Amino acid sequence: MKIIAKDREGKTVEIEGRDGWTIMEMLRDAGLPITAECGGACACATCHVYIEDGWYEKLSAPSDGEVDMLDMALAVQPNSRLSCQLTCSEELDGIKVTLAPE
Ligand code: FES
Repeated sequence: MKIIAKDREGKTVEIEGRDGWTIMEMLRDAGLPITAECGGACACATCHVYIEDGWYEKLSAPSDGEVDMLDMALAVQPNSRLSCQLTCSEELDGIKVTLAPE
């Protein structure tokens, strides 16, 4: 599956997502400036992304833990998610995400 990711400067890159890995891991491995301080434990909110172009509705609902973490994130929008809580799968082929401000 493909992930279309936009960085904080507005540059878009296409990343190959591996099934079963998280979108955060794919962004990080592709060299995008995502901090992901807690390594994907849903405990830092530094993997915050915006889900673009109607993809938000296609995701399963965030867990209570993710909602709590997002409460502490900066510049939260209705399409905010933590990318470490999103698992790559064929259903998400073409998903568009934008890195949120740090
Ligand atoms: S990497 Fe820490 S919450 Fe996602």
